[in-house]
Amino acid sequence: MKKFLKWAAVAAVVIVAVLAIVYRAVNRVPSENLTPSERVLAIFEDGGCVSCHSENPKLPFYAELPVMGKIVKQDSDSGYRAFDIVAMNEALKSGSSVHPVDLAKVEKVVLDGRMPMAKYYLVHWGSSLTRAKTDVVLDWAWETRRTMYDDAVCEALATEPVRPIDLVIETDPLKVALGKALFFDTRLSVDNTISCSSCHGLNTGGVDNEQYSDGVGGQLGGVNAPTVYNAYYNFVQFWDGRAATLADQAAGPPLNPVEMACESFDEIVAKLAADKEFSKAFCAVYPQGLSQETITDAIAEFEKTLITPDSRFDLYLKGDETAVTAEELNGYSLFKKYDCATCHAGQNLGGLSYELMGLRADYFGDRGLELTIEDNGHFKETSLERDRHRFKVPGLRNVGLTWPYFHDGTRATLEEAVRDMAIYQTGVTIKDSEVADITAFLKTLTGKIDGKYLTNDNAE
Ligand code: HEC
Ligand code: HEC
Ligand code: HEC
Repeated sequence: MKKFLKWAAVAAVVIVAVLAIVYRAVNRVPSENLTPSERVLAIFEDGGCVSCHSENPKLPFYAELPVMGKIVKQDSDSGYRAFDIVAMNEALKSGSSVHPVDLAKVEKVVLDGRMPMAKYYLVHWGSSLTRAKTDVVLDWAWETRRTMYDDAVCEALATEPVRPIDLVIETDPLKVALGKALFFDTRLSVDNTISCSSCHGLNTGGVDNEQYSDGVGGQLGGVNAPTVYNAYYNFVQFWDGRAATLADQAAGPPLNPVEMACESFDEIVAKLAADKEFSKAFCAVYPQGLSQETITDAIAEFEKTLITPDSRFDLYLKGDETAVTAEELNGYSLFKKYDCATCHAGQNLGGLSYELMGLRADYFGDRGLELTIEDNGHFKETSLERDRHRFKVPGLRNVGLTWPYFHDGTRATLEEAVRDMAIYQTGVTIKDSEVADITAFLKTLTGKIDGKYLTNDNAE
């Protein structure tokens, strides 16, 4: 018996040694002769990423087997629900730029050693991300990040996913002045009671601090008003992304029956044209005259000036270590640790992609309210099931001033929003002290306009 155990132990050691050798052999790092993109692509290929992160993956033969097949399909479905890797693979192949959110997500799962999942690489030898492969992917990710932005981030922070507002947007001051006047002009509404600023007060964080906004005649909308500050950075406008540009967006509220409720832009043009002084000033800048196109163009031009740089966090990113406290900095570390910076990335900490509300827990089920049309998010636009409950990620600059939160305005305080984001998007319940630190970090994102920190007149 003893002898048998001894031999068994020796055999086990030999088997493990052989496995380790084979494992290393099949798990080679792609050749250094390849470009960084080609190496990363090869690592993704070995990692089987595409079989769990694309719409119609070619699944292995055992996906047809009864028990195993079910597991494989489940992983593939929930993987695709969480992340679609196809655009990134295409960009790597063609040498075009990788999307900043895709980059942040891949960086994070690789940093955490989360992908591919263990049950995958235990079956697919050679797929696991060894230390050496991890280094290749991270070097590539950081170099890509570095070249993606032409900003003044200090060398030590040059690979951070959150970026300072650092661009000078060229605007035409004459158009800006007209756009500003229109932004405050109640003649854009049917009964001359509501202007853009009624719901997007520039002294109240660019919002109205209401769950839903009051339109003409006190009608309530069905979705929370996002801020106009830094909306310029959004890749599309509205929660569901239905407007491609700021000018497209500005055409919406005047004709929206529960907002400004005009029948058509002709009605607005007629009112403005009757104002001789205004129409003269307008036609001096827009010789083509008053129209939906020129009115919305002027408003969009004004909105390009609603940018809030020089937040304390921006100063920190540019190298001023005294700009933020230890607590706030810890909040930023936690913001990255809990995946927040994968969706809330870039200059506006969001506004770059559509993401699922309730990625890791059932937000709408727990909310307990009846589902509304607005809850469908981007699905309203595409009718694709995958887009249901996907929203354009809100930017988080000045978020300390823009309560209440979420598209449904159901979270009154920033603390609640932070705690619930961790639950529904990251799948963790975080400690009160962590909520406090992340909230403190988010409050460092309040920026300046005309050289002064933005404030909110509705704050006590
Ligand atoms: C066996 C299937 C499978 C493979 C192979 C796989 N993933 Fe995933 N991946 C998943 C699942 C499932 C999730 C969702 C996890 C969750 O929601 O907790 C996910 C999530 C992700 C996410 C989204 C971030 C997140 O935390 O939700 C990224 C990015 C990702 N995977 C990248 C990769 C990369 C890169 C590879 C290849 C190196 C890879 N995955 C391989 C199944 C897989
Ligand atoms: C009655 C209140 C109300 C009025 C008036 C109003 N808005 Fe809005 N605004 C909203 C709401 C609510 C949303 C979100 C709607 C949605 O996503 O479907 C929104 C969305 C926006 C957005 C998109 C921001 C983002 O992050 O997606 C911009 C920009 C904007 N409004 C600018 C304007 C301008 C310019 C005007 C005047 C022409 C205006 N709004 C008039 C309530 C209003
Ligand atoms: C998977 C992508 C994703 C992740 C991860 C994520 N968020 Fe969000 N975040 C969103 C989306 C989408 C919304 C809008 C949801 C809605 O309104 O229904 C949002 C909304 C918010 C809001 C409210 C903004 C507003 O103006 O209403 C805050 C604050 C926020 N997130 C902070 C965080 C924090 C903190 C974390 C990390 C704990 C985090 N998010 C993680 C996608 C994400």
